[in-house]
Amino acid sequence: MTTAPSQTSPTGPAHPGRPLRVALLGGGTVGGSVARMITTQGEDLAQRIGRPLEIVGIAVRRAGRDRSDLGVDPQLFTTDAEELVTRADIVVELIGGIDAARSLILRAMEHGASVVTANKALLAEDGRTLHEAAAEHEVDLYYEASVAGAIPILRPIRDSLAGDSITRITGIVNGTTNFVLDAMETTGAGLFDTVERAQALGYAEADPTADVEGFDAAAKAAILSSLAFHTRVTSDDVHREGITGVRSADIQAARDMGCTVKLLAICEKVEGPDGVGISARVHPAMIPLTHPLASVREAYNAVFVEAEAAGELMFYGQGAGGDPTASAVLGDIVAVARTRVTGGRGPGESAYAQLPVLSMGQAITRYHVSLEVADRSGVLASVAAVFADNDVSIGTVRQQIVTDEDGTARAELIIVTHAATDAALSATVDELAGLDTVTEVTSVMRVEGS
Ligand code: NAP
Ligand code: HSE
Repeated sequence: MTTAPSQTSPTGPAHPGRPLRVALLGGGTVGGSVARMITTQGEDLAQRIGRPLEIVGIAVRRAGRDRSDLGVDPQLFTTDAEELVTRADIVVELIGGIDAARSLILRAMEHGASVVTANKALLAEDGRTLHEAAAEHEVDLYYEASVAGAIPILRPIRDSLAGDSITRITGIVNGTTNFVLDAMETTGAGLFDTVERAQALGYAEADPTADVEGFDAAAKAAILSSLAFHTRVTSDDVHREGITGVRSADIQAARDMGCTVKLLAICEKVEGPDGVGISARVHPAMIPLTHPLASVREAYNAVFVEAEAAGELMFYGQGAGGDPTASAVLGDIVAVARTRVTGGRGPGESAYAQLPVLSMGQAITRYHVSLEVADRSGVLASVAAVFADNDVSIGTVRQQIVTDEDGTARAELIIVTHAATDAALSATVDELAGLDTVTEVTSVMRVEGS
């Protein structure tokens, strides 16, 4: 297909009065909300930008679907996304996935369009290609909606905290899994039923495995780490565990020690053997009920940022769903539209620090370990020796006798460690499983935030 060059200089001021042409790729949960908001708030947006926005097309996969609820001209829908991106000043990518989205974004930039996207999977897998293309074609690439839905978090990290030094970010950044864990805790609901409800509410990814297995949160951790630590971090660099292994017994065990279970994304600077590096990980963890993240319920997200000068900051809000996510997308559209009007570009990628990304074994954390043990003398000493041999200090130990329905009594040891490297903690758990005094390692969960 031949393509016409953009009529607008990417860097120069656009013609006064001419509407800025917006191409939407995707008219689903988020794209539909964005289309509706641009249509209903057109007057206000024009005042804020200095020029009106005009939707020039909405690319979708299924041509014949009824989309009358969006309140936009049905003529705008097209299945020819490749053609659409060549005639826009701003392309808004909301189709998701990797290959088609990347190729459309690159094509849009080649034709001089700035790009707004919510596609965390693509940014975390191949953000480098997108950033390099944006720099080459002197256009903007904004992606606030890719992390934590409506919550303004990326621009605060990139702009407001640009003069500070971020040391750690702890986030609940996946609405679906928070919704599921919250329902498991408050109503005793099962994982799979609750995921279906999250899908119906528009929170879950097209394939909810991305949510429950932690891929979505890992992508967001990669994006947060890249921005916070001025280093390229991809989803492959992030240690990932999902919530499918979390049992109601784990949630009860957390309650027993004044904690709750959350799927956390943790991005931090850690002192490694060769100096400072980045640790990025996603896994379920117990956090104390007194921690600000413990009160984050349902599909809400929150990001807890620690910076050297600012101290502790908490960003909280709706992390998923059409309208909340569209709010962040619209914010980006207004931002790139303003630079179109005034000329120039917004900030590009900052990856000058190039810190090494450390392995999970080098992360520093605490463990909560439950063991079923023989109820006889010397057991505690044998268990304690394994912790000592691996240089892991025990914080608390509790023993309880659990009586089964058939009257059988079992001894259970619940141990919470002090902070140690994850490698030392895993080795400890492996060794405990081999002790003849330990019948079973019934649960192992990291403890964060205290
Ligand atoms: P969605 O409801 O599945 O919508 C996807 C839209 O893209 C649909 O309109 C679909 O067309 C269209 N589409 C898919 N592939 C296409 C292709 N190759 N060419 C043209 N159109 C195509 O997805 P969504 O929930 O809006 O998510 C969109 C993006 O936002 C994803 O990257 C997602 O990770 C991200 N995001 C979503 C949320 C959320 O809460 N949902 C929050 C933050 C970020 P049809 O309508 O014809 O199927
Ligand atoms: N599936 C994602 C979630 C959407 O549940 O958080 C928001 O990125």
